[in-house]
Amino acid sequence: MIKKIGILTSGGDSQGMNSAVSGVIKYAQAQGLETYIIKDGYLGLYNNWIEKVDSFFADGIISRGGTAAGSARFPEFQEEEIREKAIKNLKDKKIEALVVIGGDGSYKGAQRLSEMGINCIALPGTIDNDISSSEQTIGFDTALNIIVDSIDRIRDTSQSHSRCTIIEVMGRHCGDLALYGGIAGGADIVSIGGNPLSEEDIIEKVTKLKGIVRSVVVVVSEHLYDSVHELAKKVQEASGFETRASVLGHIQRGGKPTAMDRFRAFTMGIRAVELILDGKSGLALGNVGEEIVDYPILEALEIPRKSRKKLWTQFNNLNIRRIK
Ligand code: F6P
Repeated sequence: MIKKIGILTSGGDSQGMNSAVSGVIKYAQAQGLETYIIKDGYLGLYNNWIEKVDSFFADGIISRGGTAAGSARFPEFQEEEIREKAIKNLKDKKIEALVVIGGDGSYKGAQRLSEMGINCIALPGTIDNDISSSEQTIGFDTALNIIVDSIDRIRDTSQSHSRCTIIEVMGRHCGDLALYGGIAGGADIVSIGGNPLSEEDIIEKVTKLKGIVRSVVVVVSEHLYDSVHELAKKVQEASGFETRASVLGHIQRGGKPTAMDRFRAFTMGIRAVELILDGKSGLALGNVGEEIVDYPILEALEIPRKSRKKLWTQFNNLNIRRIK
């Protein structure tokens, strides 16, 4: 019977990571387990930054942004010798199980640790919504709300000055933040990975809207264009629409998690402990609606992402009639 359980958050932080940690600690403590925080993710596991915590650590953090456990990107964890040292650190403290909260890179680390004898359960902690085994990742809802609020604010000033604004949002390999944010924020044009609009397409669409609408909001995923500031200059020159660019950046990753992110994260934390107590390992948790589901981590990583092409096409064609 497992008596000690470790928890770490890894990769880019996301709102709700603390809520998940809180769920794990509170439920584990209620089951009589000892709980340990590994500071700064896999980097701390390697460096033995492991601290015993009681439920006081979990008190109040459910509503806090960031991650109280700290996080880091540590690609070196792919190396076997690095993982061996990390496992020794856990074994020295007799910690046999680990809850890992992070994105796909963190999942791979959890899978490898499971193969090496540590019972790992992975939770989807990333604002990007790029883990297909979960309908929504922990942090996505909060980041989305920040994006929508930002679009609303930018449109206010854009309308006052009759401008076009290009807003760049996060989502390295997944356009959900841009697509959902653009739709919910009432953007005019959205460009996401997969089949992004070319710079020429954007210029053409904005040019057609000039004279028909007072302001234009274009939402784009990060890394699609060399620089959205340069793109704004090109759009202005070609369309005659005064154009600005705003990069939302890390503002999207901070602040209090929404109620749904907290709820999902906390209940996934409870489920993770339940599975560990059942002797399960190498599983990734996700949600289908309000239900928490689990898959072997390797399977979870291979689930193809749902195509958003139809929705994206429908949305970008909404303006066709007015801009023909
Ligand atoms: O992984 C989530 C994410 O927020 C991506 O959307 C973004 O590209 C990246 O992290 C930024 O990472 P960093 O904070 O390390 O610059």
